[in-house]
Amino acid sequence: MRIAVTGGLGRIGRAVVAELAGHGHDTVRVDVAPMRGQGPGYRRADLRELWQAVDALDGADAVVHLAATGVPDSHTLHPELAEGATYTANATSTYNVFQAAAVHGIDRVVWASSETVLGPPFRIADPVQLPLDETHPVRPETSYALSKAMGEGLAHHFAHRHGMTPVALRFSVVMDEEEYAALPQYWAEPERGRWNLWSYVDLADVAVSCRLALTAELVGATALMIAAPDTLSDRPTAELLDAFCEKVPVTRALGAFESLQCSAKAVELLGWRPARSWRDAV
Ligand SMILES: NC(=O)c1ccc[n+]([C@@H]2O[C@H](COP(=O)([O-])OP(=O)(O)OC[C@H]3O[C@@H](n4cnc5c(N)ncnc54)[C@H](O)[C@@H]3O)[C@@H](O)[C@H]2O)c1
Repeated sequence: MRIAVTGGLGRIGRAVVAELAGHGHDTVRVDVAPMRGQGPGYRRADLRELWQAVDALDGADAVVHLAATGVPDSHTLHPELAEGATYTANATSTYNVFQAAAVHGIDRVVWASSETVLGPPFRIADPVQLPLDETHPVRPETSYALSKAMGEGLAHHFAHRHGMTPVALRFSVVMDEEEYAALPQYWAEPERGRWNLWSYVDLADVAVSCRLALTAELVGATALMIAAPDTLSDRPTAELLDAFCEKVPVTRALGAFESLQCSAKAVELLGWRPARSWRDAV
């Protein structure tokens, strides 16, 4: 397959391009950032512009849409304006990518949503129940999370209107071996991990989830949690729950260090088997 990877020069994008190339796919990196030695594997595009998105996806059989901004680079005295910049950039780019896919008759858009659609950092409200899974209500607390939740809404529209089968992958915090080495410092302050329930996912496993989502047999728009099966903490999950989440209902028995974000649906629908844990590296 020929796959357009938006945000292909970014951190996850580079890993996804390598994973796809390793499985015999052709890739074209679509990114607003310049790449040295531009060639057939790269197209420069600012996806906030629909025409640039349409040009960029020309010739692709499928799309992995990763381009987004987390923290706006504009500086303003009014934080609401910076928040607006994140929302507008991400929601517009995601709309444009879906619309461009529709123009080209591309059915499968695998794209980066985020764990944050379900409420992290939980400053406004606690989770409704734990572990978090796809049954938890979508309750974004930030404009970044709102832009991802809007993307999930857009995905349903494009599935309904154009028969597309978009797959939203709700990545937890993506980490790699270099970051695992710093974990012992993090353990000294377990409250720091409460914002996303001590969750993470390995970069290489994220790349595999994107590849599997490109070919999984799915109907309509799908959203899947993508988190490692264990927490980042050295403390047992039951201890973390007692200390930091005592008022939140827990819906089932959990393993000793089991994650509070459950990816069972991705395991079932994609055949995804997260293979890497910080516990193997530290
Ligand atoms: N890294 C994480 O922990 C994490 C967690 C959850 C979700 N995500 C999502 O995964 C995706 C990839 O994240 P990442 O960590 O690789 O980010 P990154 O910042 O490393 O890469 C993003 C890439 O997108 C490009 N880009 C940004 N705006 C663009 C635009 N308008 N047009 C074209 N290209 C544009 C950037 O130039 C960059 O190369 C993002 O959608 C992000 O929101 C990341």
